[in-house]
Formats: sequence, structure tokens, C-alpha cells
Amino acid sequence: MAVHFEKLKIKKINRETPDCVSIEFDIPESLASKFTFREGQNITIKKEFNGEEIRRSYSICSAPFEEKLSIAVKSVDNGIFSNYANTQLKPGDELDLLPPTGNFSPKFSATTKHNLAIAAGSGITPIISIIKQTLELASQSTFTLIYGNRNRQSVIFIDELEGLKSRFLERFNLINVFSRESTDSPIHEGRITPEKLSVLRNMIDYHSMDNIFLCGPEELIFSSSDYFKSIGIDERKIHFELFTIPGQDSGSSVEKSKEEVATKGKTAEVTVSIDGRSLSFNLEYDGMSVLDAGLAQGLDLPYSCKGGVCSTCKAKVLEGEVEMDNNYALEDDEVAQGFVLTCQSHPRTPKVVVDYDER
Ligand code: FES
Repeated sequence: MAVHFEKLKIKKINRETPDCVSIEFDIPESLASKFTFREGQNITIKKEFNGEEIRRSYSICSAPFEEKLSIAVKSVDNGIFSNYANTQLKPGDELDLLPPTGNFSPKFSATTKHNLAIAAGSGITPIISIIKQTLELASQSTFTLIYGNRNRQSVIFIDELEGLKSRFLERFNLINVFSRESTDSPIHEGRITPEKLSVLRNMIDYHSMDNIFLCGPEELIFSSSDYFKSIGIDERKIHFELFTIPGQDSGSSVEKSKEEVATKGKTAEVTVSIDGRSLSFNLEYDGMSVLDAGLAQGLDLPYSCKGGVCSTCKAKVLEGEVEMDNNYALEDDEVAQGFVLTCQSHPRTPKVVVDYDER
């Protein structure tokens, strides 16, 4: 079924660092199944500020086995919602949330054993969910986390991570890297760069890893991913979650130059289905996205980033073809099944049918 916003009450707010809070939501019994989630997924929050609607996606930092839904929100410069959450939100307040979505979840098999995660700053939020769930439920698995921050004070979930370290002494390896704090070893100082990863190779057997999870700024993700590929790690083992929309076309973006000529002036009949109802409209091949066109028709379609990152706008193409400008969220097997990010999709056949109820 298509996802829609639901009002949820805030149960608890914890200050994690001077500029980051974690927010736990109260999930009423009637919404429990809608808000069931997998580790590594995210939710979208909608809120109006001075008459303008803001939508933001946040990764869930709790693990499914904990039976609670929490996110962490770090203040960013000029971040309207993040600053509001850090200074004004309080328990009892209500927020509009879209149910969990996203694919940044481990696909474990019987042979999955060793896992590595690299995170920087608030990139820890989906990672800690994945780590907790893995350590708790996959008793043969190990996890190594390389976590980059400015200094010890800016480490989100420091107590929880230390707690995991003591509890899973043999199975959880935490390597902090501080960019603005001196430590007793140069390994723990600086930034997480390919050079740093190369030095850490003396301590971590990257080739033994069954999964490598990356979460943080675009540069960290793409440079780490390139490094692992350069030393022969199978690309299918590398999973990443972007927090921002990349300024470069380095996702599975599509060659457009020759396409533009072929699509100029063409129009498709697009049918969008949501909640069992359908609406058809004409859409130019090189015009607005399927999502924007549907919204312009007055349809209540799910979205958040509009940049191909969060997957909130995911839908299935039942007929015809579309082309995505960028895809930083869907796995290859989902694309093969016909799923698309509608915020990035443009028609490429005269008739296109897109269904938001298939997710
Ligand atoms: S709205 Fe985020 S990927 Fe489309």
C-alpha cells in the first residue's frame, strides 16, 4: 500500500551531544504494523514553518529488536527543522511522519560473518541500528566500526557504543578517528580518507568482510567505495546511504546528451495509481518528473529529498518505460523488478503506468 503521513507523539528526547538530540516516538497499537521497520531504514518528517512545508528524512537509530522507534537529529547550519528539533521540540509534541522506507539494511545469509561500517558524524544513525541488530541476533557475526568525528565530545551515541564494546568484547571492534583532537596514536587522528583506510589495513582484513556499510558525507562515501573497489573488494558487498544530494552525477545516472535529442517535443500519457485510484495526464519526455507532475495534478504522493537519495517516492512501473536522472537509493534487483524513484523519472514510451501501492 502507498504510504501516508501519520501523526505521532514524541515520547522521549535525549541530548546526545551539544548539537544532536535523539527523539523517540510513541507508536500507538493501531499504527504498529505501519511503523514496523528494518535496521538501517529512514522516516520522513513533515512540518510547516511560516506557511512553508518542510520535509526531512532521518535514519532510525534504534534496532527492531528494541521495539522502539528513535531517530537522531543533528543541528546543521541554517537547518530549519534540525535547529527547531534541537531547541524547541519536547515530549508530548506531535509530528507528521511517513512510515519507514529505504534499503540500507543488511542482507544476511547463513554464511555472512564479518561486517565493516564506516561512518562520520550523524552518519552513525542507520549504522548503529544495523550494528545493534546484528550483534544481538546474529551470534556468529562480528562488526568493525570506523567512526570519524571532530573530537570525543561530538561522538553521537558514545555511551551506547562503549556499552556495545564492553558487552560484545570479541565481536565488536570500535575505531574512533578524530579530526580535531590529539590521541595516543596517529591512527586515531585525522580524517577517514583512502590513505587512512590503507593504514588501517594492518588492523582490519577488508577482504574477509561480507558487508561494508558506508554512511556520511558524499566525499567519504565515494572515496571509501573507490578505495575498496581498487583493492579488489566485490562491489556487491559495498552498501551506502547518502545524507545529502550529491552535486555530481556519480550514482547510476544516465547518459543524457544523445537522449535529449531523441526526447525533445515528445509527450507521454502517464497514469499514476495510488490508494487504488488512478489519474492520467500528459507529460513531456524532457519535462518535469513523474512525481512533480503527479503533485501538480493534486495527487498526495509520498516524497522527501527529491534528489534520488531517500527512496520515499519509490513506485513500480507497470507499463511502459521511464528513465531516472539519478538513483542513489534503489538496489539493482529492485530496478530489475520495475521499481523507480519517481522524483527522478521521465517517460520514455508513449504510455506509462506507475503504481505507488506496490512497494
Ligand atoms: S523523494 Fe527522495 S528519492 Fe525521490
